[in-house]
Amino acid sequence: MISTCATAAAKLILFGEHAVVYDQPAIAIPLLDVRASAAISIDLSSATPVIEAKDLRMTLPITEARQPSLQHIVNAIELFEARAMPLPATGWRLTVWSKIPFSRGLGSSAAISIAILRALSASQKIHFSSEQFIELSFELEKFHHGTPSGLDNTVIAVERPIIFRKGQPPQNIEPKSFTFVVGDTGVGKKTSDVVSFVAANYHSNPGHAGKIFSEIGAIALAGRECLEQGKLKKLGELMTKNQDLLSELEVSSPELDTLIGAAKNAGALGAKLCGAGKGGCMVALTEDTKSAETVSRALLQAGALKTFITRLK
Ligand code: PMV
Repeated sequence: MISTCATAAAKLILFGEHAVVYDQPAIAIPLLDVRASAAISIDLSSATPVIEAKDLRMTLPITEARQPSLQHIVNAIELFEARAMPLPATGWRLTVWSKIPFSRGLGSSAAISIAILRALSASQKIHFSSEQFIELSFELEKFHHGTPSGLDNTVIAVERPIIFRKGQPPQNIEPKSFTFVVGDTGVGKKTSDVVSFVAANYHSNPGHAGKIFSEIGAIALAGRECLEQGKLKKLGELMTKNQDLLSELEVSSPELDTLIGAAKNAGALGAKLCGAGKGGCMVALTEDTKSAETVSRALLQAGALKTFITRLK
């Protein structure tokens, strides 16, 4: 076992959440400065490998780590052993920590999975292609979310802006320069619950929800063009249209609506929730860094727990 450390970025869905589960295209970008980390180190203190979840302040031998808060980490180790190679039975520790807020639509679970897979493969000198990272992290996403589209783990595995359709390889997007502000409502949500809520609405009225999904898919395609051609104003309008459709799907929330309204009042060119919704984060498009700072202050005043400014390019 070689001591090593690996990281993986958070992600932001610019267009297409929920509709992507129903085969529509979606656009996501990595948040390169906000990352999850995993380190392998030598540890001779226990007869079995040791798991340390720093943010939870928990350190346990792997044999005692089968509990809900650590299951995610154990699953990643077991999948690695099943698909790549068995790991030494003792003498090492896996430490995991993350700057990505949990359950807020920023891809925390996929980033933790990928950071662990990267650390384990580096510690064993195994090279995985990005397709293999996508496939393995998708397996882990299924443990946590039931029926994920694959968008989160794919954008995190490739760490590039992508347009994505379920079951297909991602296509790279070559965006011009844009500045976004992310605001965290501070309200946690479980992705699988919100996805199930949308599924129930879809099954009770497939025509209505299906039409919304198609409109969101068309917005994602138009969004790609705006990103690649640097059409700032149009991009903002599309984000706001996407938000209106997500509100129609009833996945927005009063906290998200407050932050989206505050961003627009402070000069954002468009804003929407990002991720599953019903809490979590929103994203606003701004003209430049100065305007992003103004929007960020407005979001904090309106009750955001935290904000990030991120630039594409
Ligand atoms: O909230 P997150 O980061 O888990 O994003 C979920 C995105 C959905 O489209 C709602 C679900 C999916 O699997 O794509």
